[in-house]
Order: sequence, then structure tokens, then C-alpha cells
Amino acid sequence: MMHESVARALNEQINKELFSAYLYLSMASWCDAEGYPGSAHWMQIQVKEELFHASLFHGYLLQRDVPVVLEAIGKPEAEFDDLNGVFSAALAHEQKISASINEIYRIAREEVDPMTETRLHWFINEQVEEEQNARDILDKIKLAGAQPAGLLLLDNELAARPEPTLTPPSFAG
Ligand code: FEO
Repeated sequence: MMHESVARALNEQINKELFSAYLYLSMASWCDAEGYPGSAHWMQIQVKEELFHASLFHGYLLQRDVPVVLEAIGKPEAEFDDLNGVFSAALAHEQKISASINEIYRIAREEVDPMTETRLHWFINEQVEEEQNARDILDKIKLAGAQPAGLLLLDNELAARPEPTLTPPSFAG
């Protein structure tokens, strides 16, 4: 039986992943309105990734026969200074999500729940990528500086982000 503190943390993570989707949807709206359609597309792909993450946590709780408790999703930030501001907010958010997953891992260890520990390995690796993606784009924004041509090139590059495969890891069943 899963310890209540692990169950609570996993339930909260579903909410955090759904909030992440909401935040990226808000960022996509800002990018579209400000004339960055490629960045808006990149954000829309990110929305799908976050919904996928939420579904994986949800599925795991069902597999372990743990009650799912869904709470209200908060209002995401909607105003950003510029493209650098949007992706800086994305990186800061991913760092918070990484810390949250690391904390669940810590609780699972404390409560001797190796099933949850093992399940979290995929998410921990995923967070390395999530942070790296935002950081790589921020590096390119810095290189482009404030030059419209540089930002336009970057926006075109982001328009090519492929649809996510969203293949459940083998553990997801
Ligand atoms: Fe679900 Fe962006 O981490």
C-alpha cells in the first residue's frame, strides 16, 4: 500500500503538470499575439508534452490503486516583456518542476517505496531534457540579441519542432 505522503505528492504532481500545460498555453498565446508563430508552435507542442506527463502520473496512481484527487488549476502568467522573458519563465518553471519531482523521489525513499522511486527515473531524465530545451533556446535568443532578423530566424527554427511521439514508456502499460 502506498504511503499517504507519497500519494499526496504524486496527486499534487498531476496538478503541477496540468498547470504546466496551462502555462505553456498562455505562453503560446503571448507568442502568437506578438508575432512569433514558430515560438507559439513550440509552446503548443510543449502543452501536449505536459498533458502526457500528467496522464503518466495519473495512470501510475490508478495502477497502484491510489485514489486520484484533482484540485483546481491556478491561473498562469500571461504577460511577458519579450521573447527572452517568455523562455526565461519557461526555464524557471521547469527548474521548479525538477525540484518537485526530486522531492517526490526523496519522500518515496524515506517511505521505502521502491516502486515509486523506480517509476520516477523516467521523469527525472525527462527533466534534464526539459531544462536543456529551454536553456538552448535562451542561448540562441542571447546570440540573436535584439536584432529582428536573428529573432526571426530563431522563430522559423522553432516552427520546425516536430509533434511529440508521446509513446508511453514501457512501464506505463
Ligand atoms: Fe512536465 Fe515540463 O515537465
